[in-house]
Amino acid sequence: MQYGYFDNKKREYVINRVDVPVSWTNYIGVNEMCGVLNHTAGGYLFYKSPEYHRITRFRPNGVPMDRPGHYVYVRDDDTGEYWSISWQPVGKPLDKARYECRHGLSYSRYICDYNGINAQQTLFIPIEDPVELWDVTLHNSSDRERHLSIFSYCEFSFHHIEMDNKNHQMSLYASGSSYQDGIIQYDLFYEEDGYQFFTSNFTPDGYDCVRDAFLGSYRTETNPLAVERGACSGSTEFGGNHCAVLHKKVSIQSGENARLLFMLGEQGYENAKVMRKKYSDEATVDRCFADLAKFWDDKLSRLQVNTPNEGMNTMLNIWTLYQSEINVMFSRFASFIEVGGRTGLGYRDTAQDAMTVPHSNPQKCRQRIIELLRGLVTQGYGLHLFQPEWFDPQEKKQSFKSPTVVPTPNKSQMIHGLEDTCADDALWLIAAIVEYIKETGEFSLLDETVTYADGGSGTVYEHMTKILDFSTEQVGANGICKGLRADWNDCLNLGGGESAMVSFLHYWALQYFIELACYVGKTEDAAKYGAIAKQIKAVSEKVLWDGKWYARGITAKGRKIGVQSDSEGRVHLESNAWAVLSGVAGKEHGELCMDSVNEYLYTPYGLMLVAPAYSTPDDDIGFVTRVYRGVKENGSVFSHSNPWAWAAEAKLGRGTRAMKFYDALCPYHQNNLIEIRQSEPYSYCQFIMGKDHTAHGRARHPFMTGSGGWSYFAATRFLLGIRPDFNHLMIDPCIPSHWQGFTAVRKWRGATYNITVQNPNGVEKGVKTVLLAGKTLEGGAVPCQPTGSVNDVTIIMG
Ligand code: GLC
Repeated sequence: MQYGYFDNKKREYVINRVDVPVSWTNYIGVNEMCGVLNHTAGGYLFYKSPEYHRITRFRPNGVPMDRPGHYVYVRDDDTGEYWSISWQPVGKPLDKARYECRHGLSYSRYICDYNGINAQQTLFIPIEDPVELWDVTLHNSSDRERHLSIFSYCEFSFHHIEMDNKNHQMSLYASGSSYQDGIIQYDLFYEEDGYQFFTSNFTPDGYDCVRDAFLGSYRTETNPLAVERGACSGSTEFGGNHCAVLHKKVSIQSGENARLLFMLGEQGYENAKVMRKKYSDEATVDRCFADLAKFWDDKLSRLQVNTPNEGMNTMLNIWTLYQSEINVMFSRFASFIEVGGRTGLGYRDTAQDAMTVPHSNPQKCRQRIIELLRGLVTQGYGLHLFQPEWFDPQEKKQSFKSPTVVPTPNKSQMIHGLEDTCADDALWLIAAIVEYIKETGEFSLLDETVTYADGGSGTVYEHMTKILDFSTEQVGANGICKGLRADWNDCLNLGGGESAMVSFLHYWALQYFIELACYVGKTEDAAKYGAIAKQIKAVSEKVLWDGKWYARGITAKGRKIGVQSDSEGRVHLESNAWAVLSGVAGKEHGELCMDSVNEYLYTPYGLMLVAPAYSTPDDDIGFVTRVYRGVKENGSVFSHSNPWAWAAEAKLGRGTRAMKFYDALCPYHQNNLIEIRQSEPYSYCQFIMGKDHTAHGRARHPFMTGSGGWSYFAATRFLLGIRPDFNHLMIDPCIPSHWQGFTAVRKWRGATYNITVQNPNGVEKGVKTVLLAGKTLEGGAVPCQPTGSVNDVTIIMG
């Protein structure tokens, strides 16, 4: 069953059956203001921080679901009937009205045909200002003049998520609203800069700022009293709950249009006047909307692919990059699931996100890399969750103040020591730094001096060595890296026990580092860390190989887990995919262990993280054993880890298998399985219920997951095989044997590469010939070409 379709020409996903099983969300804003909105315009807006500086309120986990939102009501003043453009909150019967939601790149458009009126509401945030625009157009498709009343509605937040949800004895009397000449000002009195405004391009016929005056007692957004009676009451007050309602009466002749613009922004009256003037101009609004399209054009144009797999094309060319970018832009804490109650940066998540999109967002990836380096302590581990500005010497103060009633934790509270450390966190950063340098050629980054979280400073290069040294030191009784509080798997808490995944990650990070050290002439370091890598490989093979696959780890009591003798938690994805991806596993063990992954973990919806799922709590293994079977880390298809298996298969040269795994997880291919998947098919979700759950195939937690970045990284660099190196572009695809080839356009360091891959002999991997402008290249790889040049590259596989 499907609820919508991909409109690739417009780069939109169109939801034309709006009663989807769960919210289908989108993100608007590309700088500091962000809106998380669903297909019915439910959702919330924040500025800089979803925890401390929320603008509009959201009642997560509530019924009716996804309220409130950024709504527009349309009322027929001749009959008194009213509806909302985004279907909800009025929710007219779907057989009487036509609704559509078009989620685009950083905007959402809601379309409604009802009662002879075509109404559209587009929500977006211009790149240049933190102001959410509501662009509303109305078309009278009936044969008579229509008299309509339009009402905006959104509910203001007490700014802090906690304040919205508890102890209102102060916030409820410190939030106030006022109105002057078409501008609503919302104020949180105890905050120095605690203002927002809401205004429009017209002189309103009425307004309401007090929520309960607009809605009426014991009513909801579905049937607001003011809309019902067709008039606001002009409410404002110091104290209470506040909303932004502007009322405009419009008369539209048959066949004619009307356009109304609303603006929701930061600060009070003075800024509101400026913004109102600017965005009352329709041409400016149109230009800003076009700018947003150009912004995404530019990003997406850095890599466009044309393969025989339509799902892959759609995801890589539009949605997966979009998802990855959103994670890099807004970190991982604002969705309808992660509702903004945490702020700052998660160390490992941010490092992985920054690794995946240096081509489309080098500035932000660089910024994230520096923030993470500052969040590293001298001992070489990263602070698992921290606020970057606390370690930023440039940041004298935040540009907005947290409410004084909410104490902001300080630096010292963040430095918890080893017991709070996750063993993998900082290892990801090595790859992120090297990938950044390969993309940009900015080798000087290595010499930049950056502070440590616990004092002192060192070069970026030195930070990298500390990260590697930390893992070299933190090994357990068997010579494998300790699991500490957790490794990548938050629910595997091996403590002083050992984690195969961390040793493999350590090996992987070492390979990146050694390659870099060699390239920049640090041969002694390359030799030193090379010897460590050699040792890890030998120990891992000896300790972790279990005959058909690799063990997942060893508990603190010395018991191996993820081995053939286990009846639960027998085969784990992470240890096997990483054994191969890191380069620890040779061909024979690599193929055997990935065959086991295929045999025990494959489902039509992707690879499960572990099978069979655990059913008996066992704290030696960790929290994973206390999670329902088939859910999250306990045997779901945990999406983030799937691309590791694609990359592992690609390393083994098995392109048909790699694509089978890719296709299983690919949300595009589940577009007509929404009765099972439920969640949006344009975003990877954190997990899909595994075989051991009754709802096998149901996806949960869109957007905010490393699956976006990693699927982009693995599909483009390993399956399509297009990856920049320090001074040349590698093109080494691993594709299904039935593919006759594919084309791609990659921009790299200012030059364009038009790539044609031909597969005349139906192989899965292997490059026979590389041609640059028709000439055969010695050595296969394409050297970095001059800025501005356009280069035809032909790859003949064989
Ligand atoms: C969540 C966390 C991530 C972790 C993963 C597996 O996605 O954000 O940090 O690696 O779960 O436990």
